[in-house]
Amino acid sequence: MNLLLIGSGGREHTLAWKLTQSPLCSQLFIAPGNAGTALCGTNLPISISDFDALAAACKQHNIDMILVGPEEPLVKGIYDFFKNNPDLQNIKVVGPSKEAAQLEGSKAFAKAFMQRHNIPTAAYKEFTSDKYIEGVEYIKTQSLPIVLKADGLAAGKGVLICQSYLEAMAEFELMLLCSKFGEAGKKVVIEEFLRGIELSIFILTDGKNYVLLPEAKDYKRIGESDTGLNTGGMGAVSPLPFVTDEFLQKVKTSIIEPTIAGFKKDKLDYKGFVFLGLMNNDGEPSVIEYNCRLGDPETEVVIPRLKNDLVQLLTATIEQRLNEVTIETDDRAVAAVVAVSGGYPGDYIKGEIIHGLQESVLPGSIVFHSGTKKEGDAIVTNGGRVLTVTSFGKTITEAVEQSNYMLEKLYFEGMYHRNDVGFEFKES
Ligand code: AMP
Ligand code: GLY
Repeated sequence: MNLLLIGSGGREHTLAWKLTQSPLCSQLFIAPGNAGTALCGTNLPISISDFDALAAACKQHNIDMILVGPEEPLVKGIYDFFKNNPDLQNIKVVGPSKEAAQLEGSKAFAKAFMQRHNIPTAAYKEFTSDKYIEGVEYIKTQSLPIVLKADGLAAGKGVLICQSYLEAMAEFELMLLCSKFGEAGKKVVIEEFLRGIELSIFILTDGKNYVLLPEAKDYKRIGESDTGLNTGGMGAVSPLPFVTDEFLQKVKTSIIEPTIAGFKKDKLDYKGFVFLGLMNNDGEPSVIEYNCRLGDPETEVVIPRLKNDLVQLLTATIEQRLNEVTIETDDRAVAAVVAVSGGYPGDYIKGEIIHGLQESVLPGSIVFHSGTKKEGDAIVTNGGRVLTVTSFGKTITEAVEQSNYMLEKLYFEGMYHRNDVGFEFKES
């Protein structure tokens, strides 16, 4: 089978690494990919949103199946683009339809879905500019902190946790009346602040059945001890000691099963990964957000723990046979630590030469590329998040220590990584 993987981050290098391990994968193409995916298959210089160019490449390379890494093409309707074109219908896209991808593309859509299907989530109300005054009144009735969310995709920046009423009202005004997040903020969701420990649960669904993948926790803040600005993710660990069988059972019955039943009831065409961003409050799970894809850097720990053949899993998804599949996972702990460019998540320089890539690979570790590209013989930085080092260990602490050790062998000007990924799980 010939496969096309869309995306260019650490998630996509990890997926490419896993897909090529399958005997069912004849040829793998990645659009646009990075210097790491180029080690697994053929990179194609095509933008993730250029559906016409992607379709032409699929024809040229006889692609049978497309796996979409990031949300943007899904929210823009890549699934429907292929499905509705008689010339392209035989090319199967793993991912939700445009309508179903609204679960990530519109916070208001996701909240209404959860409310309709009785899925536990923070209480909320949505407002557009014509309801500005009502919104301000609503803010005054809420307890602090107050969470404001731009409805649409806002490059991960559209969620604000406001510690005072003044801040909440100012931000609400900036979003609704001053287009702080452009189109994405034309509608604003105001919601209750949830307390507890965040975690990420991933499922793969064929619209009728689902399989549960290993859980993960990511570390979003740039600074150690979870301080400083939010990033795309500075590290991840799996498994999580607090995810007991009892907790998972609650997640299944109160969240996953109603979600799948909701897809059926609402006639949402969804054959792909669902990323549930959850809050665990004293053993009670609720949904913070849905994403219609895998997470990054969560994928860098979830996929290495997955023992199943990924091409087989994706085929079963397309053929709605996931009920026949049993997921097998590696019991070892896995940690991913991300090395970023100096200045990230603010401005940073690209094009720094990365040293040590050849020398530094230890058994039990994998270096996944995020923002990298080949320039002549060198591999250079090409983004904020540059490399993710994934390691296995007997414990999370051991896995994190090995990734940190490996990162000492890697170097590019301005390189930074957190040393304390998994800090809550450190054995004393
Ligand atoms: P999202 O873009 O929905 O992933 O939100 C970004 C981050 O904001 C989440 O990962 C949480 O840390 C935080 N967050 C979002 N909604 C809430 C909420 N209702 N209560 C507490 N934290 C939240
Ligand atoms: N690591 C969070 C995300 O991928 O959205």
